[in-house]
Amino acid sequence: MDTSQLEEIAHRLVVRGKGLLAADESNASCKKRFDAVKVDCTKETRREYRELLFTAPGAEKYMSGVILYDETFWQSTHAGPMFREYLKARNVVPGIKVDMGLIDLPGFEGEKLTQGLDGLPERMAEYHAAGAQFAKWRSVIAIGDGIPTDECIGANTFVLARYARICQDAGIVPIVEPEVLFDGTHSIDRCEAVMTHVYDVLFQTMRAFRVHLPGAILKTAMVLPGKNSGAGINHDDVAARTVRALHEHVPPELGGVVFLSGGQTSKDAFINLNRIAQKGPHPWGLTFSYSRALQDPVLKAWANDRTAKTEIKQLFAKQLELASAASKGELDESTLDHDDFVSHAQDL
Ligand code: G3H
Repeated sequence: MDTSQLEEIAHRLVVRGKGLLAADESNASCKKRFDAVKVDCTKETRREYRELLFTAPGAEKYMSGVILYDETFWQSTHAGPMFREYLKARNVVPGIKVDMGLIDLPGFEGEKLTQGLDGLPERMAEYHAAGAQFAKWRSVIAIGDGIPTDECIGANTFVLARYARICQDAGIVPIVEPEVLFDGTHSIDRCEAVMTHVYDVLFQTMRAFRVHLPGAILKTAMVLPGKNSGAGINHDDVAARTVRALHEHVPPELGGVVFLSGGQTSKDAFINLNRIAQKGPHPWGLTFSYSRALQDPVLKAWANDRTAKTEIKQLFAKQLELASAASKGELDESTLDHDDFVSHAQDL
């Protein structure tokens, strides 16, 4: 394992002022998003839409990397170059989602396990040879009556640690994502307690499986009250609790920390990130790895007029600029109140 190369890639991904675009929606997730805006979801429409994101002028100023789905990883821009090569040429690191989605955890109602370890070393070698420099694996932890169980947390962190070590042996930086879900009626206290416990078990397991922590990145949700709890989002409280959870339960030597948006409105996801960044200094580079919070207004604009390519690309670059400012704690939050800022990511 070339640990210095892994560390260098991890640092590039979380360099100050840049963050990640998660464009790795599975075809099924993509269909849900496209259905919501009434666009047919085909291999070509997915390619067409993602090309707009990747080729937005100026995006490379704010985008350190892009997480691709397998289909997109092997697709090309209309002009010819493969997406992954196009991104690399713009100094944007190409990454790949390698998990194979969720299955029910047998015997544990309401809990899930992520599959995809079988054959992973061979797949990682293929992706690495084709230019992938980092990967993502998403596990989910639901909060509810009697859940998460220790068994669910144990099973998912075991798989995340095994995946992470396989990545590193292939020269790829693993993003480990134990997503504590926003869905539910739980309190913010409960979310914080679950998340800190998951971090403790995760890093203990990653160490046990000999993962080189400075060459790995954590992708996490923020500490939030359940979406259906009736509690509103208090940005300062979210930021204080998220920073406390991270500072007290995530090893300082880790290669970086990135956030998912998880169904928050774009506005909340940007403001929360801004307030979190303002509570620095943090021991790691800390930034966004958003899908919905970055893409929601862009997808709506594209669905509204697929010929307005210049405007759509400008809108996406603007989203990235806002997220970049938030990642530095320099976002002017009042700019999010203008009319065309669509803030209903959860509708998609
Ligand atoms: O794994 C989750 C995605 O990469 C992030 O998506 O920002 O819509 O939660 P999200």
